[in-house]
Amino acid sequence: MLTQRIERALEATLQRSALSSSPPRLTRAIRHAVFPGGARIRPQLCLAVAMACGDDDPHLSDAMAVSLELIHCASLVHDDLPCFDNAALRRGQPSVHAAFGERIAVLAGDGLIVMSFAALAGSRPKHAERLADAIGILEQAVGPARGIVAGQAWECEPKADLVTYQREKTGSLFTAATAGGAASSGADPRSWLGLGDALGEAYQVADDIRDVLLDVQALGKPSHQDETHDRPSAARELGLEGALNHFNGLITRAVGSIPSCRGALRLRGMVLAEAKRLLPDECVSVVRQMSSGALVSGSPSRVGASNA
Ligand code: IPE
Ligand code: IPE
Ligand code: MG
Ligand code: MG
Repeated sequence: MLTQRIERALEATLQRSALSSSPPRLTRAIRHAVFPGGARIRPQLCLAVAMACGDDDPHLSDAMAVSLELIHCASLVHDDLPCFDNAALRRGQPSVHAAFGERIAVLAGDGLIVMSFAALAGSRPKHAERLADAIGILEQAVGPARGIVAGQAWECEPKADLVTYQREKTGSLFTAATAGGAASSGADPRSWLGLGDALGEAYQVADDIRDVLLDVQALGKPSHQDETHDRPSAARELGLEGALNHFNGLITRAVGSIPSCRGALRLRGMVLAEAKRLLPDECVSVVRQMSSGALVSGSPSRVGASNA
């Protein structure tokens, strides 16, 4: 099972990082940010692509998967801080700053970013020549030119283009997951960019719809955040039905972008299952009913916890 492989690799990385000798509150905050996890979708995507490409260097594909998840966890810790989204809940538990204070949360995020790069740089790949590509792919997904840092910084500008903002804050790690999975298996990462781009954009569009439709219990994090923070969102720009149609188009594009390979069918199944997990049938039918006027928009969340 991919999920067990990911949890084992994350645990082994944290053990190797000698975290236990860090200041105790920092150690606990970093573990709190990583365990228990959320969907672990980025490492799953990375490993699924690696397997589709033969996965002949599992030390490297594991390290790539771990590095993506650690960066993702870091981005959530920083994203929840009072100076960004000021969210006290994450994955159904207190966010890191709510549990450990703001100073430790800033440092836990910093620590996770360093640990992410260390996980790759310190890995022992069979094909060492692939390591530089893998590190470059991670760097591009995180940095200030393109990547999470740039994406979050668009929120600090008076105006942001929705597609650029979402591609950088969210899509970039999905693109790194597909490209990194391919590179770690010696395949051409460029053939896998289309899948990561489309799935990453779809993921954020779904998150925008879920932010409007679901409640805090279902999400495990605060709802209605885009309106509260006056942020660009697909639901706000396109309306719920427009966003849903856009999401469906992106999923079709993601499926169509899977290069022909032995694992193509399995990957197709994974993308479609992920689409259903993000926006289950009940969510879709609520959006359709709202658009037809059968449900009034602006009323409290209409989809319950069982749909998360
Ligand atoms: C949350 O990502 C941030 C977004 C990009 C929408 P996930 O929804 O993947 O969060 P976890 O890891 O499952 O908690
Ligand atoms: C998440 O953006 C993207 C990053 C953390 C980089 P959001 O702020 O929209 O995600 P949630 O809703 O807090 O998970
Ligand atoms: Mg945010
Ligand atoms: Mg947020």
